[in-house]
Amino acid sequence: MDIRQRIGELKRRKNAVILAHNYQVPEVQDAADFVGDSLELSRKAAGLEASTIVFCGVHFMAETAAVLAPGKTVLLPEIEAGCPMADMINGRELRSWKAQHPGLPVVCYVNTSAEVKAESDVCCTSSNAIAVVNSLGADRVLFVPDKNLAAYVARETGKTVIAWDGYCYVHHRFTPRDIDEARTAHPGAEVWVHPECPLDVIERADKVLSTGKMVLEARATSRHEIVVGTEKGIIYRLARENPAVRFFPARETALCAHMKMTTLAKVLHALETDTTRVEVPAAIADRARGAIEAMLRIS
Ligand code: 13P
Ligand code: SF4
Repeated sequence: MDIRQRIGELKRRKNAVILAHNYQVPEVQDAADFVGDSLELSRKAAGLEASTIVFCGVHFMAETAAVLAPGKTVLLPEIEAGCPMADMINGRELRSWKAQHPGLPVVCYVNTSAEVKAESDVCCTSSNAIAVVNSLGADRVLFVPDKNLAAYVARETGKTVIAWDGYCYVHHRFTPRDIDEARTAHPGAEVWVHPECPLDVIERADKVLSTGKMVLEARATSRHEIVVGTEKGIIYRLARENPAVRFFPARETALCAHMKMTTLAKVLHALETDTTRVEVPAAIADRARGAIEAMLRIS
């Protein structure tokens, strides 16, 4: 029996489902029951019948699934797969920052620990951040941890978005020059970037899209060439689903080392050994769920 068959057999025996983020390596995307962006994966986790979720992504995503699916076993095949941006703020730091800005609503990007979500009023993802901030009856909001997404949301909503000094090291490295060079190399291409990129990069793009919205846009586009300004792993899915369109990375080196830690062998090991289980203490999970459900009601 090869590794895919063994995974399939264990999935059936354990009533397990494999969820994978759009940045996962091809072999893991191919083995997954569902591939998506952070919002899609959160929604999926909340509605699953399965008793075990194998989450191929990074730690905060598995935590979000554990919060939304209490009672289910959530496994992260590579426990070292964290998100450096999510680790840029913890619950204690957020509590003290809130104390300096009393009365302002707190919006947390989904790329945060459950502990940080528990301290927030509402969560958001890259696909609904504008709608979430617009839904708040406040002109000033606190936003953690991504300063780039915050700057984009401020531009789009006209609100004062006071941001924590966090960023995604993969997207923060994109420069206006990357976009200019990509346009020179591919003059007929449309340029899409992720809202975790700096604002001067966003300003040079044709479209600003979460990974999930890139997948949808690719199905609808009439263009034949697209330059993609996000983690390069998404190009595997975009190219596979849209063979008539050519996709080019805006930066060849845009790779998230943490997203690439999960392999098919680790997925098999997770199913064989029920490791590593991601659990969130009930007191934190209940409060974090409040912030996530507030988001799901908006978008
Ligand atoms: P989305 O898939 O929600 O666009 O998020 C990108 C990301 O960086 C996840 O870590
Ligand atoms: Fe975190 Fe960026 Fe990697 Fe996503 S791509 S997991 S935001 S470091």
